[in-house]
Amino acid sequence: MGKICSFIALAIIMALANSFLGNAGDPDILKDFLVPLGLDPTNITSDFFTYTGFRELVNVNITGKTAAIVTKASMKEFPALEGQSVSVAALIYPPSGINPPHVHPRSAELLILLEGVLEVGFVDSTNKLFVQTLQVPDMFIFPKGLVHFQVNTRSDSPAYAIGMFGSANAGNVSLPTTLFASGISADILAKAFKTDLETITKLIAANNVTKAA
Ligand SMILES: *[C@@H]1O[C@H](CO)[C@@H](O)[C@H](O)[C@H]1NC(C)=O
Ligand SMILES: *[C@@H]1O[C@H](CO)[C@@H](O)[C@H](O)[C@H]1NC(C)=O
Ligand SMILES: *[C@@H]1O[C@H](CO)[C@@H](O)[C@H](O)[C@H]1NC(C)=O
Repeated sequence: MGKICSFIALAIIMALANSFLGNAGDPDILKDFLVPLGLDPTNITSDFFTYTGFRELVNVNITGKTAAIVTKASMKEFPALEGQSVSVAALIYPPSGINPPHVHPRSAELLILLEGVLEVGFVDSTNKLFVQTLQVPDMFIFPKGLVHFQVNTRSDSPAYAIGMFGSANAGNVSLPTTLFASGISADILAKAFKTDLETITKLIAANNVTKAA
């Protein structure tokens, strides 16, 4: 519980730090804040600027989980972020859990490790791989738009991290999903991956199962 509280307190501090990253990808707004359509500006209260969605993390059950549990606070979940160029994601990695290779098209990600041990990596546009093993409370920056991943290398304990973005809507393109669960034809994929249709069919089947799950 104390751990979760420091987790969330750090998230807030780091979200502020993130706004000074100079990575402003979102357009500037000409108002203090944006009021969503259909909402009367005089009805805006402190609640509008408050996000309580991370409270559910206090009791999250990771038993039997193998993939990272990602809880986002972007402008979809927290509308007050629109126009403010910041968002965060809370990341919980079960023992040996992974966050598969993915890309955030609209922002860099500054990740801070709050508990556990995490192996992180990204690949730059020259195809060079950078990997690192983080210990608490190290930070790692995944540059904007580059493929990256994280792995909890411990099989006996979870890891906790916060990802911070210089966009209210950083976006998330998962490589396995985008390649094998988007409907790109198996013929094209077999040629692209220099393999046979049978192999590609297996990859498509496996990734459509994960998508449905
Ligand atoms: C604003 O608040 C008043 C009083 O609670 C409510 O009657 C009204 O429907 C609200 N207007 C909008 C646009 O939400
Ligand atoms: C956590 O999840 C596991 C597997 O689904 C389940 O067996 C266990 O009862 C859950 N624990 C709690 C406290 O809900
Ligand atoms: C991006 O999407 C992938 C696949 O759905 C997921 O595993 C990953 O946790 C997501 N990352 C973020 C930060 O949303």
